[in-house]
Amino acid sequence: MKVMVVGGGGREHAIIKKLKENKIIDTLYALPGNGGIAADAQCVAIDAKDIDGLVSFATENSIDFAVVAPDDPLVLGAVDALEAAGVPCFGPNRAAAMIEGSKVFAKNLMKKYGIPTAAYEVFTSLEDALAYMETAPVPTVIKADGLALGKGVIIAMTREEAIAGIQTIMADRVFGDSGAQIVIEEYLTGPEVSVLSFTDGNVVIPMVSSMDHKRAFDGDQGLNTGGMGTIAPNPYYTDEIAAECMKTIFVPTIEAMKKEGRSFKGCLYFGLMLTPTGPKVIEYNCRFGDPEAQVVLPLLQSDLFEIMQAVRSGTLEQTPVVFADGAACCVIMAADGYPVAYEKGHAINIPDEVAPYVYIAGAACKDNKLVSAGGRVLGVSAVADHLQDAIQAAYKRVEKIRFDHSFYRKDIGAKALKAANEGGARGI
Ligand code: AMP
Ligand code: GLY
Repeated sequence: MKVMVVGGGGREHAIIKKLKENKIIDTLYALPGNGGIAADAQCVAIDAKDIDGLVSFATENSIDFAVVAPDDPLVLGAVDALEAAGVPCFGPNRAAAMIEGSKVFAKNLMKKYGIPTAAYEVFTSLEDALAYMETAPVPTVIKADGLALGKGVIIAMTREEAIAGIQTIMADRVFGDSGAQIVIEEYLTGPEVSVLSFTDGNVVIPMVSSMDHKRAFDGDQGLNTGGMGTIAPNPYYTDEIAAECMKTIFVPTIEAMKKEGRSFKGCLYFGLMLTPTGPKVIEYNCRFGDPEAQVVLPLLQSDLFEIMQAVRSGTLEQTPVVFADGAACCVIMAADGYPVAYEKGHAINIPDEVAPYVYIAGAACKDNKLVSAGGRVLGVSAVADHLQDAIQAAYKRVEKIRFDHSFYRKDIGAKALKAANEGGARGI
């Protein structure tokens, strides 16, 4: 079988490494992939957002199955176009991807179906938003409606910050047309948990939970990033909370999407906050998280390709989805200066014994050598029976990599370990 994976980051590398375990697949393509992914798949220089290009490649090369991993092509309708051309896909169609593509849509869906989330108001006019903010409570959270590379969220601690935030999104349009509509919502508190799930539109099977570390520096300091590291499972996500989320969030969301005629097939990512009044949805993503996939997929014991086919054909209920009991950690090595300005082209040297555990994101191949080509460059991972050992093993591997002009957080998993040891959270 010939399978193509759309995308070119660490998440796609994790998907490809897992798919390689399936023996029915004989050829794996990555579109566009990257210089590091090239060790595991044939990379084809077609941009993930070039929908016509994806379809032409798939039909000309008799692709049997496509996995569309990033949010942009999903929201642009890559799955609709590929399926229309006769290529079976893993991933939601455009109508279902709206759950990530529009925060206003997601919030209205949750309100309509009673799914717990922060209270909110929607604004399409700058004047109305500013007038509301004169008396609205602070802290508050301002979100651009559309995709904004994970950056369209402003947490405003004061009224002045909120007003400035509204202006940057709606008047200055720093996130482009994503800022034509905004959501202003209640500021929630509590530990955050990421739960990725497989769903075929009928049943929803949560994967092992995880915790992202979004800020650039240790101690959750510095700017927000795409994610500087992850651990799984998330110790705050106890069996009791998992059962509650299944009942109040996961199943109601799948049912709501079905009722709206937007049946979701693919990986639905629930970004949750465990607030003092129960778990609430912070965001939905219509895809695997990055770098969540890099800790969740290594713990998957079942065959990823079989699951993906079952999701597409609506037979997920009969398909085994089993995760190992252990824990995983992934530490991101980023280019100095990320997430603002950073240099590219620095040499990366990964010893052979470490290479199987490294997910390569922003890297290119130059004269047969790996060089940096992005902000988040490597995801260095480890799996162990216990979280503490997974964290230690991941950092040992990081230390063996030579990559000048890079940095990484030294405290990935530290908060989780502390929570697990203090009780009130599951021990891992
Ligand atoms: P999002 O892009 O929606 O994941 O938001 C980015 C980050 O902003 C989240 O991971 C949270 O840490 C924070 N955040 C989003 N919404 C809220 C909220 N209502 N209350 C508090 N923090 C929030
Ligand atoms: N790591 C967060 C995301 O993938 O959206």
